[in-house]
Amino acid sequence: MNRPETLPADTAAEVGRSRPHESAAAHVAGRAPYTDDLPELAGTLHAALGLSPLAHGVLRAVDLARVLAMPGVVDAFCADAIPGENQCGSLVKDDPILVGGAGATLRHVGQPVFAVVARTREAARRAAALAREVISAETLPPVLDALQAHAAGQYVVPPLKLARGDAAAALAAAPHRVELDFGVGGQEHFYLEGQIAYALPQEQGGMKVLCSTQHPSEMQHLVAHALHCASHAVQVECRRMGGGFGGKESQSALIACVAAVAARRTGRPVKLRLDRDDDFLITGRRHGFRYRLALGHDEEGRVLGAEVVMVANAGHSADLSGPVMTRALCHFDNAYWLPNVAMQGYAARTNTQSNTAFRGFGGPQGAFAIEYALDSVARRLGRDALEVRRANFYGVGERDITPYGQPVDDNIIAPLVDELAAGCGYAVRREAVAAFNATSPVLKKGLALTPLKFGISFNVVHLNQAGALVHVYLDGSVLVNHGGTEMGQGLNTKVAQVVAHELGLPFEAVRVSATDTQKIANTSATAASTGSDLNGKAAQDAARRIRERLAAFAAKRWGGEPQEVLFANGRVVVAGQAMDFAELCNAAYLERVQLWSEGFYATPGLSWDRQTMSGNPFYYFAWGAACSEVLIDTLTGEWRLVRADVLHDVGASLNPALDIGQIEGGFIQGMGWMTMEELVWNPRTGALATHAPSTYKIPTANDVPAEFNVHLYGRPNARDSIHRSKAVGEPPLLLPFSVFFAIRDAVSAVGGHRVDPPLSAPATGEAILAAVQAVRAAA
Ligand code: MTE
Ligand code: HPA
Ligand code: MOS
Repeated sequence: MNRPETLPADTAAEVGRSRPHESAAAHVAGRAPYTDDLPELAGTLHAALGLSPLAHGVLRAVDLARVLAMPGVVDAFCADAIPGENQCGSLVKDDPILVGGAGATLRHVGQPVFAVVARTREAARRAAALAREVISAETLPPVLDALQAHAAGQYVVPPLKLARGDAAAALAAAPHRVELDFGVGGQEHFYLEGQIAYALPQEQGGMKVLCSTQHPSEMQHLVAHALHCASHAVQVECRRMGGGFGGKESQSALIACVAAVAARRTGRPVKLRLDRDDDFLITGRRHGFRYRLALGHDEEGRVLGAEVVMVANAGHSADLSGPVMTRALCHFDNAYWLPNVAMQGYAARTNTQSNTAFRGFGGPQGAFAIEYALDSVARRLGRDALEVRRANFYGVGERDITPYGQPVDDNIIAPLVDELAAGCGYAVRREAVAAFNATSPVLKKGLALTPLKFGISFNVVHLNQAGALVHVYLDGSVLVNHGGTEMGQGLNTKVAQVVAHELGLPFEAVRVSATDTQKIANTSATAASTGSDLNGKAAQDAARRIRERLAAFAAKRWGGEPQEVLFANGRVVVAGQAMDFAELCNAAYLERVQLWSEGFYATPGLSWDRQTMSGNPFYYFAWGAACSEVLIDTLTGEWRLVRADVLHDVGASLNPALDIGQIEGGFIQGMGWMTMEELVWNPRTGALATHAPSTYKIPTANDVPAEFNVHLYGRPNARDSIHRSKAVGEPPLLLPFSVFFAIRDAVSAVGGHRVDPPLSAPATGEAILAAVQAVRAAA
């Protein structure tokens, strides 16, 4: 055991290394099981949901006898069969699992009214499809449009206000003023794996639910309420999701609850897997926003005062619309100092699916508004938009307080943008674009460079906590469990790297197991981009406790000080002698040293006052910028992203390869939102017309620009985050604002940049063509 040895030469840190996703090989080989791939227990039944055919109505009756008579059907039930609360709202109790019986309101086309359980999924779906015939209801006029709801004062949560200084006075005194009315659409998550839950009855009233969810603890809590049992009787497990993007933060609840209730009623395992069309019809999306904005500015385009009214389409219930709107208001500043500002946020209640978290959580909708305004200001002043943006950047040590009172003391936007602009040749290409447009009457080019700042932390203080459980086995292998969920973002890979690093082990020595409410209690959703910040720190805490125990034991046994014991490359060096990590573990075990530990982390220094809408809601800010060049066809409205350059701040990256993947993915997903993804509701029936990939178009590999340069900024986080890294999940979603404004720039070229193009997002082909025609008419 006590062989003298020095450490091998390769003592490189495990964190900071580019590693493939821990499941990458399994993903591409089809060997990474998702919930639906897990072996089904004998006797498993399948559920389907009967959906409201009306956008708005009063439920009179459901003829379940007809549903029960369908072949293969074992059970069918309505809200009255739910043993506990018919409720799956996350914050506000306004979300029934199933529409609550005769006299209850039908709130949107696709709202679940009854559940069918059958021997096969096909049989369940056929029976559920009788919904239109077996549901009798009185029709009421629906409200589909957020502005119409706003006019009627219909909201899902009380209006929010955030103000600083005297915006009205600053606007009145400003030498220039722009007034704008525009909007941005909603966005379907389009996770590749749809919503699914598989409920397995356990002994003595227990229920286990395998669920594709970002929030196992909330699923546990809501299932317990629906079953009218204690939380300790419900176990929720999620090994991985095929994407969540915010769509499985709260909205996996209805699926989990129905599966659990069906399993309780039948005493059999029940799986509920939504068909893609049903997923579109039942679950909500990113909130579309309408804006009315007035901005006063000086000759350089510096903002003196801004007033903005944001109206979000919240859909039929509150869901997360309150925190989403709060984040929207807290991101209206984006990277800019706004001395006087008055914002109002309305979450309008409409007869559509209930909108929810989606990558950025309102932040993109808030920041889009100021970017749109600065773009217009620059055009009206005849200045380059980047110049106007730079003139408004937050200062360092001055002009550095956000409208909600948090100091921006880690501001790196000016040097970051300078580096990107120089690196991508912004100035030269601006001239090249102008030269191209001067001689090209049909095809027009556009260029834009936009910055981003994104606040990291849940904007609800208490959610910023996490737990972990680390087991060291006698062979030196390590099993980690933490409260976060894996949805493709690489969280488990990063957490394994943190634990391997802490214990001086090779990456392969560490395995992360499925997220399980029986291992870590009361977890927060894996959301707000905080997964690795929170769970990384909690797992580090657990691993550190084990290492400290091992070090104390080793020093006592072999001499020296505990803090001098070295753990690296799977070896441990103590008092000049080295041994395998496993050897030390065995020796420690025989001395009855605890080789497993829990860990906990709570983000320090956060505060938020809902009444005054002020405080320090964010631990730090993530920064980034992108420059995009587009080509549009002014005869057809078709467009193409020719080139994109990104410089993004992830602090000291835990894993550069994963971070670049997140940035690329976020960029393309955001580009889809900005340009091609369009939701259309039938104005007469209120039904979502774009409920399948045939009519709802997301970007594909062909939409990735031929030249796509993504670089990490590489400066460590000023805050003591996990290894000085920064969160990366959501912020890159704002990078493709540059694509939208490049398109707007190209459209503007049609009128010699004298007319502000009336173009809202998404800038679809039709929208671009209409804007071109409007600019031409006005020029
Ligand atoms: N990346 C993949 N591949 N799949 C996803 O579902 N969700 C995004 C982002 N990146 C998502 C993703 C969202 S909305 C969030 S909040 C973060 O990942 C959550 O994970 P993190 O906190 O570990 O970054
Ligand atoms: N992001 C995601 N989910 C949340 C947040 C947030 O900021 N706040 C509350 N739930
Ligand atoms: Mo992400 S929208 O916070 O799940």
